[in-house]
Amino acid sequence: MKHFLQFSDLTHDEYEYLFKRTALIKQKFKSYEKHQPLVDRTLAMIFEKASTRTRVSFEAGMYQLGGSVVHLTTGDSQLGRAEPIEDSARVISRMVDLVMIRTYGQEKINNFAAHSRVPVINGLTNEFHPCQILADIFTYIEHRGDPKNPLACLKGKVVAWVGDGNNMANTWLQAADLLGFTVHISTPLGYEVDHAVAGLKTSNSFKVFNDPKKACQGADLVTTDVWTSMGYESENEARRVAFNDWCVDTEMMSHANPDALFMHCLPAHRGEEVQAEVIDGPQSVVWDEAENRLHAQKALMEYLLLGEL
Ligand code: CP
Ligand code: NVA
Repeated sequence: MKHFLQFSDLTHDEYEYLFKRTALIKQKFKSYEKHQPLVDRTLAMIFEKASTRTRVSFEAGMYQLGGSVVHLTTGDSQLGRAEPIEDSARVISRMVDLVMIRTYGQEKINNFAAHSRVPVINGLTNEFHPCQILADIFTYIEHRGDPKNPLACLKGKVVAWVGDGNNMANTWLQAADLLGFTVHISTPLGYEVDHAVAGLKTSNSFKVFNDPKKACQGADLVTTDVWTSMGYESENEARRVAFNDWCVDTEMMSHANPDALFMHCLPAHRGEEVQAEVIDGPQSVVWDEAENRLHAQKALMEYLLLGEL
């Protein structure tokens, strides 16, 4: 049994398979061809934080695969009344085939998985957001590569991360380590990534830059995220000040390669971490990126339950 708790849980070859499978599943979806390998399977989705994309993509995706979904939140389940996570895992995993969790600390989802009879997927924790990076890399492959040889286009490429050293940044680091590209990271002082969290195998898959414009130099993809992630709202005002020079605007994009793409996992705040001209401009692929959550996660759910087909 495999879980998807962080990006490093799967191998290079498994990602190669998943991206090929995502392309096939997307093509079937676009041509209204039924693809229902998960008939009679049930996914439990547990949300301890808000969501639009993750909720819709997992719920719609599971129904499209022929299965069904149970949606739980902290407020409407015993999770909010201090039932131990171990007991919740034992009970829920006896009733469903797959669990997706969005929560706070990674240790919570690790603990749930350790007591679960079924695969567990990380739908975002404070430390990681692996489903988002799965969709982001598939989006890059669609725009700049060959879905038949999906990982080839990533070799030697540079992704510039401009902003907070958060769950998205940690997950990009793991992906670069595994798939052979480099991340240029620029964060304000005090908001650096903690490399130990990502647990990297190599040290040459990332470079740190004080100046975000320098991080963008030579980049094939520029990406950012909100200045304040869910759970850190009390730091909002301090972050607005600290992140002022970390807005991806057209000037910042001009330091990247001319054909560089722009991504943002969304939700976005125009005028804060990204200028409207960039996110709504020609280099932005954010809508494909959001849509690809659906297709990539369908491939992931199918793989965790049925293996390679
Ligand atoms: N990108 C992302 O995970 O969006 P939601 O918070 O809307 O799920
Ligand atoms: N880093 C953001 C991502 C939201 C999808 C957060 O954790 O809130």
